[in-house]
Amino acid sequence: MNLGVCYYPEHWPPERWPIDATLMRKAGLKIVRIGEFAWAQIEPVDGQFNWDWLDQVIRILAAEDLCVVLGTPTAAPPSWLVKIHPDVPPVDVQGRQRRFATRRHYCPNNPNLKRHAGRIVKAMAKRYGSNNTVIGWQIDNEFGSHETARCYCSKCTVAFQEWLKERYKSIEELNLAWGTSFWNQTYFGWDEIDPPNLTVAKPNPSHVLDYYRFSSASVRAFMLLQVDILRKYAIGQFVTTNFMGDFTDLDYHQLAQPLDFASWSSYPTGYSEVRGPFLYGNEENPPTFAYDIGDPYITGFCHDLTRGLKQKPFWVMEQQCGQINWSYYNTGVRPGNVRFWTWHALASGAESVIYFRWRAGLSGLEQHHSGLLKHDGSLDIGYKELIAMLPERAEMDKTNQTQQSAEVAILLDYENLWAIQIQPHHKNFGYMRHMFIYYRALQQLGITTDIISPESDWSSYKIVIAHTLWMGTKPLAKKIKKYTEDGGIIIFGVRSGFKTSTNLVTQDPLPGPFRELVGVTVSDWHALPPGLDFQVESIIPGLSGLLSLWAESLLPCPVEGKRQKLSVLAHYSSDPFSSETALTENQVGKGFAYYLGWYPTVQQAKSLLLYVASKSEIDYMDDLPTGLIPIQRGLNYYLFNFNDYPIEVTIQGNTTNIKKRDVSIISNSLYGT
Ligand code: GAL
Repeated sequence: MNLGVCYYPEHWPPERWPIDATLMRKAGLKIVRIGEFAWAQIEPVDGQFNWDWLDQVIRILAAEDLCVVLGTPTAAPPSWLVKIHPDVPPVDVQGRQRRFATRRHYCPNNPNLKRHAGRIVKAMAKRYGSNNTVIGWQIDNEFGSHETARCYCSKCTVAFQEWLKERYKSIEELNLAWGTSFWNQTYFGWDEIDPPNLTVAKPNPSHVLDYYRFSSASVRAFMLLQVDILRKYAIGQFVTTNFMGDFTDLDYHQLAQPLDFASWSSYPTGYSEVRGPFLYGNEENPPTFAYDIGDPYITGFCHDLTRGLKQKPFWVMEQQCGQINWSYYNTGVRPGNVRFWTWHALASGAESVIYFRWRAGLSGLEQHHSGLLKHDGSLDIGYKELIAMLPERAEMDKTNQTQQSAEVAILLDYENLWAIQIQPHHKNFGYMRHMFIYYRALQQLGITTDIISPESDWSSYKIVIAHTLWMGTKPLAKKIKKYTEDGGIIIFGVRSGFKTSTNLVTQDPLPGPFRELVGVTVSDWHALPPGLDFQVESIIPGLSGLLSLWAESLLPCPVEGKRQKLSVLAHYSSDPFSSETALTENQVGKGFAYYLGWYPTVQQAKSLLLYVASKSEIDYMDDLPTGLIPIQRGLNYYLFNFNDYPIEVTIQGNTTNIKKRDVSIISNSLYGT
């Protein structure tokens, strides 16, 4: 496994570079990421490139046996470019044009930006595309961050109209697809269609969904422009970009598709604070773990989601290595955390971990962000820990050689996610939040889970969870049917099959195209305001009890001419759904299709999964203590204790002690599984 660091040589005098490079090598680092914000240093004047400093940095790093990942610097266009083309910065949803300075101040559809970006990427690729020290490229930096995934400028308006023309071919088709007869929104020409911002009432959900699709496709096209150049000139060097875990404004599956592998930026303490409310919602009190280590489920969710983008090992392109600056409290971190996070990433399938950043900066927004070195150049906690980790590196390499294979997958579909975001119907209904419930339940059962696109090949998984497939299509229903007939198990959650792919409501009885497969009709549904609970009773242990947020009443519907084996596994026991069906299991060929009619708690999801896992002979661990995360990789289990106290855990009769904030590695074969 390779470790590396993000380095900003342009922030420091050249005399310092060799000192830094030597220190990097001594800490066991192998990879240095540079350049992703250095456009002005590389091209200080329009069309004039200054390579001297970058050549020198790469030479100095090579002399210490370090490899380089070069960032294309397009995340921060230079001031001269914005001066010549003031329309480069994006226009936000409020219609305000953003200014130069900070970063991400560009519209991906701006032709001037694209021309200049293409030119600098080509110049860099030609210069370093066959440099032996450069092993690969990171395109741009964190596409979509700082709320820049969607631009509402005039260039985007025209590009959107073109995109719609391509998609719908005729304006009549578009009117049908969007249902524009509602509120007299009929369009007579493409040039009448604006982006869906600044409308008086909330815009048409079909219009908004298409704008989200178009915006994501625009970012992808901007990325692809760079990928194509790099593929031409940088032969044998990889191409990736750094994603942001559970970020939702872009279709990460679409973005990842042309890349060699996915990578992401992992900041466990920041994510736990900032993403906590988003993922847990206000229905729950997030569990507390060691305060400076982050939330295991959030960090794990992002690792697993990133691995699922390409269904293969990924990189952590930025790994927190001390305190950060952009969260609410920005806690300091203790010795041990960096090692812990590194192992957590590795066990989750990361093949390289690159720490952010080398040295704490003296200027700019991130002055309070730590690095492996302190501001004064002395060694900080992170660096000392890298030294302490040196004896473990061989074990890490060994882990890196092993495969990770999951038997369970959760389907993540960004278009469904956006559709729910556009119309949550219930304030607390979140697509990711709903998904995170199943994810936590699986983690608590020690079941390794992949998070994958419905478009991917999931025929080899024993269980697939479709927590909210809101927009059902016939091809998808066919794919699921085949999977089930061949022996797979599919679990549908609430709000399945309600919408068409253009975000209209289906005319078919619910759950639309999945109805025949699950063998039930959703006959009624209630969104439950906070404080209102329904009651459910089930033959599955642990599933009975209160439910909140969302409930659907199911009506078993024998499909004519088909022999079905439908079992009712739970029913409602309180009004207004009293005695109506709440959970079903339908045998389809060699497999089963479940329909869970309510929004479960983690405990309920766990009970259901336990029931289903034992049916499909999946290994699981029950009664794991809170904060203990077992991850299976190769023949080992990596047991992570995220608590601030030691725990003793007995797995299949064998007892292991795990120190606080520590990892224990146990051989799977020990337990005969
Ligand atoms: C990341 C970003 C880096 C840096 C870092 C600070 O999201 O890619 O450039 O800003 O956050 O934590």
